Amino acid sequence: MRRGSVVQLVGLGILFGAGAAAVALFIPWLPDPASKQADRIDVLFWFVTAICIGIFALVAAVIVYAVLKFRAPPDDDSDGPPVHGHTGLEIVWTAVPAMLVTAISILSAVILTQNERLPHAEAGVPRDPLRPLVVDVISQQFAWLFKYPGYNNATSSTLKLPIGKTVQLRLTSRDVIHSFWVPQFSQKQDAVPGLITKLVITPKRFGVFPVICTELCGLGHALMRSQAEVMTLADFRKWAGAQSGGAAAGGAPTGANGKALFVSNGCNGCHTFRPAGANGKVGPDLDKLPQEAQGAGKPLEEFIRESIVNPDAYVAPGYQKGVMPTTFSSLPAAQIDDLVTFLKGGGG
Ligand code: CUA
Repeated sequence: MRRGSVVQLVGLGILFGAGAAAVALFIPWLPDPASKQADRIDVLFWFVTAICIGIFALVAAVIVYAVLKFRAPPDDDSDGPPVHGHTGLEIVWTAVPAMLVTAISILSAVILTQNERLPHAEAGVPRDPLRPLVVDVISQQFAWLFKYPGYNNATSSTLKLPIGKTVQLRLTSRDVIHSFWVPQFSQKQDAVPGLITKLVITPKRFGVFPVICTELCGLGHALMRSQAEVMTLADFRKWAGAQSGGAAAGGAPTGANGKALFVSNGCNGCHTFRPAGANGKVGPDLDKLPQEAQGAGKPLEEFIRESIVNPDAYVAPGYQKGVMPTTFSSLPAAQIDDLVTFLKGGGG
């Protein structure tokens, strides 16, 4: 190869490499990381991206150089020279990708192992009931529920996290497969019925971030969202203490229990109901239950009960059968009573 050709080829490579690097660097593709784990994923992401930019620059430079330099004139119908391969080149283009892929897999394994690590016993750190904080994440069509076993099973429809504390999420599902994703925390984790999957998060930045379901799980999939709120440890303890203190249990059906059940069973994910502060749009508006009962030709209480345990018996006009989960028929009778009482109370 002549020296001028090498200079041209290298020039093209630098041009394409710089172009690809500009696209990678100057467009904000990823959100600003909000956890230690997301920082590590970022390192891995940029490592892979750098390799990709190098390969792209090489391939694009060779293609463009060959197209410009070796183009056959329009009247040239002759065959090209017979080429039988090049052993040296073949070894290089097998060995180099093999090394790159091995490097990526080693770095991935190291980072994923670090991201799964829980700080069980850090030397010199005083005992702390929050280390690690465990949150049970219960998913169902189409809502998230977060439960804090270390705080008397306090529940919340949003994920509250103290800053700087390592949290272990234990995910499961009540119906189909969902997937937990907070873009600012990077890692996704599936929530599978019958399994408990785990995800470790150490929030490092205050803020409210979206919790998104990223597994197609039914009609309401796109609306299956919640929020993760990162707060100070003091604020978190205040919130968790207030939650775990006030849980009522047993007795006659009460609207207060019903309201808690409405949220903990995810009804608010799909339905609008003003007394619960719910504004879901997947299912019918429950503020209009009396009118719906009239439409179905049933007394209000009976209609509400039937709609919970056998949702397809009557489907409001404009809605489809088979969307509302039938799993609520297995709730304890007392809880169904509480829910009916709460829903019957309506705007009152
Ligand atoms: Cu749950 Cu998509």
